[in-house]
Amino acid sequence: METINYEEIQTLENGVKVVGGLEFPQRKVWVKTYGCQMNYHDTERILSHLNPLNFTLTDEREGADLLLFNTCAIRDLANQKFYSHLGNAKHDKQRSEIKVGVGGCIAQTESKELLKKYPQLDFAFGTDVIDNIGEMVFRLYAGDKKFAVTSWDRSENYSIETKIAHGTPQAFVNIIKGCDKFCSYCIVPFTRGREKSRSITEIVNDVARLVAHQGVQEVTLLGQNVNSFGKKNGESLAQLITALDKIEGLQIIRYTTSHPYDISDELIAVHGTAKKLANHLHLPVQSGSNSVLQRMLRQYSVEHFLERLAALRQVNPQIVLSTDIIAGFPNETEAEHRATLDLLDKAQFDFIYSYNFSARKGTKADRMKDILTKDIRGRRLREIQAHQLKIQAQVRSEMVGKTYRVLVEGKGSMKGQLKWRGRTSCFRIVHFIAEEENVDKDFLWHWVDLKITSATALSCQGMIVHDYGKKLD
Ligand code: SAH
Ligand code: SF4
Ligand code: F3S
Repeated sequence: METINYEEIQTLENGVKVVGGLEFPQRKVWVKTYGCQMNYHDTERILSHLNPLNFTLTDEREGADLLLFNTCAIRDLANQKFYSHLGNAKHDKQRSEIKVGVGGCIAQTESKELLKKYPQLDFAFGTDVIDNIGEMVFRLYAGDKKFAVTSWDRSENYSIETKIAHGTPQAFVNIIKGCDKFCSYCIVPFTRGREKSRSITEIVNDVARLVAHQGVQEVTLLGQNVNSFGKKNGESLAQLITALDKIEGLQIIRYTTSHPYDISDELIAVHGTAKKLANHLHLPVQSGSNSVLQRMLRQYSVEHFLERLAALRQVNPQIVLSTDIIAGFPNETEAEHRATLDLLDKAQFDFIYSYNFSARKGTKADRMKDILTKDIRGRRLREIQAHQLKIQAQVRSEMVGKTYRVLVEGKGSMKGQLKWRGRTSCFRIVHFIAEEENVDKDFLWHWVDLKITSATALSCQGMIVHDYGKKLD
């Protein structure tokens, strides 16, 4: 596909832009994003490509010219939500000359069916072509209808420049795309294709630019399996973090998501040496039963997982750990389920994301004969969540009396009182009320030290000890 030459875009006096002979008046785009951080980051990238075509983002669907859905296929619930939202787009269509597009993980595998089934849908695009969204929107306004672009990028290397549309100090940076793991339950290898990493040099330059010119102070390195970063280029995540740690002005480095099999000794050591690496790691375990882990094709044992946690805690005693759990994998026995509760006791996670198993078309687990009922799955999920909440209350209570540095992310009103909220290096949200003399002060994106006054399983309060302002150095 031809790339739009963004340098040749002309702007007329009335604000209309002329691209390849086609007029683009000011238009509004409304986007609904589902799924993981990578998808949210992709949305930001999509918007950065639409901006030169005279589109601005709107929260109001009613006034929008273009509706985009960036979809997720991870569990059936995610699909159902999207189908119902797309169904409603029929009413938008009747209202005006609106155009509708679907991208992301559902579009990657189902675009033809979607275009056929939903007359209101104008175009669909996959996960590996988002940098061509400008061309697609051009085609759309040139009169093309009902097309799908879902090809894979066949080039050897993966090279991009991070685009951020917001002006905040937090940025997501893709470092690897795709996933080669093929866990038996998971759709991602089918929706995101094969693993491909960017080079360390490119990422370091990219992040240095974001820090120097866009005010970024915290980066989250993104990928479905970041621990496989650089494998095919003879580089590693540990080397990348070590290099990023030297960037002046950068304060916090996070990475997500990790696979326990690939978490190397070298990477664990970096959790002890890299000063900017966050005191938090999200390490999805999925199950506490070795037989279930085998059926999931996860390649590690519970013992290996717990040993990795112990090693991380040894190099960084302040590290806080979290995980993902799937309840009710096909034919999970009661004993296998209890093994997961037992793992929660041993691992002492700060929080978990837990889900009921959801069969995904094309995966190995979908072909397994399964005797579990919806009720059993639901009950097990509730047991896991209740069990974790008890552990979590205990883990969090240990925060009380300690002081944490947080980056203030926002505010809200609670029972009529204004409360600010920030995030610790260990990824916990802490709420605080400004002292009387500072009730009108804008704390947004300030670094502050907070002394924790109370902490329950789900909420944590602190009082302000020191305000550093927007820069720490
Ligand atoms: N790359 C990450 C996970 C990405 S998907 C990893 O390897 O851990 C996010 C989470 O969704 C997974 O950790 C898993 O807990 C859950 N998940 C994935 N497929 C699922 C399925 N078919 N049913 C239920 N939960 C699923
Ligand atoms: Fe899915 Fe497994 Fe890849 Fe994670 S590592 S994205 S769970 S296949
Ligand atoms: Fe969903 Fe695709 Fe992310 S399936 S979780 S949006 S990679």
